[in-house]
Amino acid sequence: MPFAHITGWGMYVPEPVLTNDDIAKLVETSDEWIRERTGIRERHIARETEFPSTLGVEAAIRALKVANLAPTELDLIICTSSSPEYIFPATACIIQDQIGATKAGAFDLQAACTGFVYALNMGAQAIRSGSMKNVLVIGTEVLSRFVNWKDRNTCILFGDGAGAFVLQASDQPGGVMSAVMHSDGSGADSLSVPAGGAHSPATEATIREGKHFIQMDGKEVFRFATRVMGRAVTESLEQIQLTTNDVQWIVPHQANYRIIESAAKHLKMPLDKFVINVDRYGNTSTASIPLATIEALQKSQIKPNDKVVFVAFGGGLTWGAMVVEWTGPLPAKKQVHLRQYRLFARLRSFIRRIFRHIEGFLSRKEV
Ligand code: ACO
Repeated sequence: MPFAHITGWGMYVPEPVLTNDDIAKLVETSDEWIRERTGIRERHIARETEFPSTLGVEAAIRALKVANLAPTELDLIICTSSSPEYIFPATACIIQDQIGATKAGAFDLQAACTGFVYALNMGAQAIRSGSMKNVLVIGTEVLSRFVNWKDRNTCILFGDGAGAFVLQASDQPGGVMSAVMHSDGSGADSLSVPAGGAHSPATEATIREGKHFIQMDGKEVFRFATRVMGRAVTESLEQIQLTTNDVQWIVPHQANYRIIESAAKHLKMPLDKFVINVDRYGNTSTASIPLATIEALQKSQIKPNDKVVFVAFGGGLTWGAMVVEWTGPLPAKKQVHLRQYRLFARLRSFIRRIFRHIEGFLSRKEV
């Protein structure tokens, strides 16, 4: 059975930064309150011309570059997002077109902030089954468009950004070693965007009442998160007969510094084994785990052969954890030039659109 290794990684955050002081001009809050209660100092916010696909494409290209893998070699793209481009089509398909992944299947996976752990596990299982060799997993968010900037309970928390991992098959042991995925829909109301779906299609009233924005019972989510994080880490380690002593790094979902602190206490682990960057990005939902991992790699904290645990929780309610033995890129056969593929992808997309128009015109004539 092949192993699923993480061989490439890439992140992208939009340039504009919104500080706590900036938010204090919008709602009654303060930098001190936000830092004390959440650990967040600032977050990045997408420009009007940036979308989940824009951020996702940048992260994906960077990840493919690290893996030295051509987009045309991808078998599957899984995009996970709590702020997708549309209800449909899938954001994954838009990214597939823009990077020129000509033979990849593409779909979106929705598990709120646990999405990246779920998606990585699904990608790894596709590789473990032997049916796929190269899978791209992307977490991308423009949550700022779903935030009510008049609601101080939520607008202080979220930020925009994207992260991507390339998973590749190899006979060498390592990569994704175990994973647990959990859900409890009885807590669906604690964290949701109530309108805009089939249950409450967008109407003047839903918009007036702000029901197309994130609604959250912060205290409830806090209690739930502190209950499940440590337990999920232990479960994922027990699956492969490991303990926290075998682990070099925990990369938790970056929602709130105090939640991470409480998980560390539960696991009886020192906080310096936890990768934390919530102070600079806020909660970027599905992008938070890859963003934190990539920063830890850039600082040479995570190294080859390290055992790393990803753990997340989120709306649904959902939660999960995954143990990975870090490897890095597979030995390169040839140098891949991603810039050329990107140009080719644009041209290909343009030509396919024209063909589709011509085909439509001709078939109308036939009818
Ligand atoms: N600025 C100043 N005061 C505030 C603010 C604010 N931004 N927000 C709330 N307050 C006030 C409240 O009104 C309250 O005042 P009161 O005592 O007079 O009523 C007081 O501060 C305390 O409010 P709490 O809600 O008890 O604050 P708490 O310590 O619980 O912190 C927070 C709130 C930060 C939202 C916390 O509950 C939390 O982080 N929850 C988890 C949220 C989370 O992780 N969500 C993402 C999940 S992942 C996903 O799927 C998207």
